Amino acid sequence: MSGINQRKIDHVNLVATHEELDRERGYFDRIHLTHRALPEQNLAEIDPSITWMGKKLSFPLLISSMTGGSDVELIQLNRTLALAAEAEGVALAVGSQRIMLNEASAEESFALRECAPTALLLGNIGAVQLNYGVGAAECRSMMGVLGADGLFLHLNPLQEAVQPEGDTRFVGLSDRIADLVKELDQPVIVKEVGCGISEGDALLLKKAGVRYVDVAGAGGTSWSLVESKRSSDASIGELFGDWGIPTPVALRMMKPFRSDFDVIASGGIRNGLDMAKCVILGASLCGLARPFLQPGLESVEAVRAVIQRLKREYVTALFLLGVESTEALIGREALIRDEDRD
Ligand SMILES: Cc1cc2nc3c(=O)[nH]c(=O)nc-3n(C[C@H](O)[C@H](O)[C@H](O)COP(=O)(O)O)c2cc1C
Repeated sequence: MSGINQRKIDHVNLVATHEELDRERGYFDRIHLTHRALPEQNLAEIDPSITWMGKKLSFPLLISSMTGGSDVELIQLNRTLALAAEAEGVALAVGSQRIMLNEASAEESFALRECAPTALLLGNIGAVQLNYGVGAAECRSMMGVLGADGLFLHLNPLQEAVQPEGDTRFVGLSDRIADLVKELDQPVIVKEVGCGISEGDALLLKKAGVRYVDVAGAGGTSWSLVESKRSSDASIGELFGDWGIPTPVALRMMKPFRSDFDVIASGGIRNGLDMAKCVILGASLCGLARPFLQPGLESVEAVRAVIQRLKREYVTALFLLGVESTEALIGREALIRDEDRD
């Protein structure tokens, strides 16, 4: 078994069994919304659907990138998530496909179109790999196996810095991203993995021609803490365990860029009310990873149950806010109570 495959298994097992790796800092609980006692609408008529990258989603949910590899557990996990995403009409991003470049047998875990013929499926690779020899040809081949609608490039300088085997040459990366955006036919989405995207990053991404950004802020799964569990010296990972821009703050930082990017929120979103707050702060899609891990290891029904819970919570929030649809909720910051507004 390759080092990358073993690392993927370690990550899944660590996150699934260590609750403290989920920071749950409650950043969303500090945002209060204005209740409407007279919502003047019928709950059953609320339309939470959204069209994103040309595909209709039943509500603005993305199952965020987690895994892939040649191990049977990882193959099964991705299939379970894909079947649930298709059945519930939500988007799915796979975990890093870099492993495919070293291990042909990992392809099976990413060949998900059979399970999800119509779902919005997004590929994934670490952006820093563009500085280590990966180019448009490799990205095309990874996306081809998945039948991807777009490609996530993840930025994880903290995780790479605290990993003993980390890839830390980040010089010139925004230029590499610009080249890739030009060369690929499908859209590129740039994300963090739990530390957030700042204004300076947004300026570079705009210049690079990127149109989709996932802020993936602090508040949920901490990759620094995950890596500290895998390391013989845990101290640096623990020190930076809470590093990063909280997701709601990162979303606010994207406000000046709303006409430049379609914004995805992720990082610590744990229920449909958190999702509604993200949409109010300008996101048109909300990504959750960890909440789908344990159910994904169980069954398609368990994943579907989580999606249905999130949808019910999200629609209930819209009802109580007096807002009839997701489209009408995006960026409606007036719904945030005055004391919590900027
Ligand atoms: C087990 C696990 C594996 C992950 N692997 C990847 C990955 O390969 N690529 C990536 O872009 N993000 C990866 N992530 C990060 C998530 O997609 C997400 O950005 C982050 O965990 C924040 O979401 P959460 O707080 O809902 O977990 C992973 C997350 C988890 C929990």
